[in-house]
Amino acid sequence: MSPAAPSLFDFVTPAQRDRVLGLCGLSHRLPRHVYSDPAFLRLEYEGWLARTWLMVGRAHEIPEVGDAMPVPGHPIFLIRDINGEIRAFYNSCRHRGHELIGEPCNRARGIVCPYHHWVYRTTGELRTATHFGGYREHGHPELDPNAFGLKAIRTGVWHNWILVNLDGEAPALEEFVRPLADYYRDVALSDARHFSTVYRHPFSANWKTVTENNIEPYHVPMVHPGTTAGHPFDCHRIVDEGPLVGCAVDIEGSSFTNRAPAATADHLDGSGRFILRVPNLYIAAHAPDKLVDSLILPDWEDPLKCWVSHACYTTSGPGANDDSLERWAAIQETVMEEDAAVMEGVVRGFRAPVMDDGGVISPAWENCVSGFYRSLLGALENGERA
Ligand code: FES
Ligand SMILES: [Fe+2]
Repeated sequence: MSPAAPSLFDFVTPAQRDRVLGLCGLSHRLPRHVYSDPAFLRLEYEGWLARTWLMVGRAHEIPEVGDAMPVPGHPIFLIRDINGEIRAFYNSCRHRGHELIGEPCNRARGIVCPYHHWVYRTTGELRTATHFGGYREHGHPELDPNAFGLKAIRTGVWHNWILVNLDGEAPALEEFVRPLADYYRDVALSDARHFSTVYRHPFSANWKTVTENNIEPYHVPMVHPGTTAGHPFDCHRIVDEGPLVGCAVDIEGSSFTNRAPAATADHLDGSGRFILRVPNLYIAAHAPDKLVDSLILPDWEDPLKCWVSHACYTTSGPGANDDSLERWAAIQETVMEEDAAVMEGVVRGFRAPVMDDGGVISPAWENCVSGFYRSLLGALENGERA
């Protein structure tokens, strides 16, 4: 008899689950081992991440036909095929499994495996099994090329954001993004023009540690006193609306419908919204005309590693002042450095046994973090496809 598949309660006791959900007092952080146990990472993929839509890249990073890039930390690559469509494939040659795309490149003329030079089309079909049947015998009567094409992964693109659904059975992408699209209905997402990206590849923390920091405002005045000088503590509020978790800053007179270019202050000073559509589609909007997405990808195998990048966009036209964009990107970079330092501190501190029951969550400033846990636990305990 084969052993039963692991379930949530192989890792978290019912009492710990209740504490995380705040069913018996203040909510708690998840217990420490769910940030470091590879078996829990597998459960997260099987129970949640593979069953929903996962952001894996950005369309502007592969603009031309044939442009390809590996998905960081995953055996998956993205390519813009001969028809201009973005596709995702497992990054494994069907011969003996060599990785096909090791770095960003262009493969418009075919994807050639570095090992024995099998060639695939940008649409995934096996074109040539080079010398497979003997010298200049590019095939074999018993090798059906149709059975050895690349294994495609269900892929969708929403504005600039590329998402995959690993199990192929999640509801349509339009349905998945609808809450975020509705939330940002006054933000010109379709006008977003990319101007800079900061990569942290890889970052030595569990992906949940980075996600938690990205959505809660509690740390902002303490960790970012200079860069967010225009965001007083009492202007922050929590967003915890089902699959949308995060926070917002409301500054009087600063809105997204006033499309005038932003001022050139050396700190953030306009209204902002910092929203995660679980599990990892995160978009921050800064009034009047800036966006920042955060791509926080778990590592496929290592729970103490993740792959993080933040891309900045303006929704103003090409007339936007480049100096102001540069200054703005520099502010973002500093914010991200400040965040990285505290997340590294959490990783070091969270190793101690005193963290077996997590830590405690502020009901005033961190309900969004509890909301993120609710989605995770709902998927793992009840099979919800949030
Ligand atoms: S592993 Fe790719 S051609 Fe042999
Ligand atoms: Fe921060």
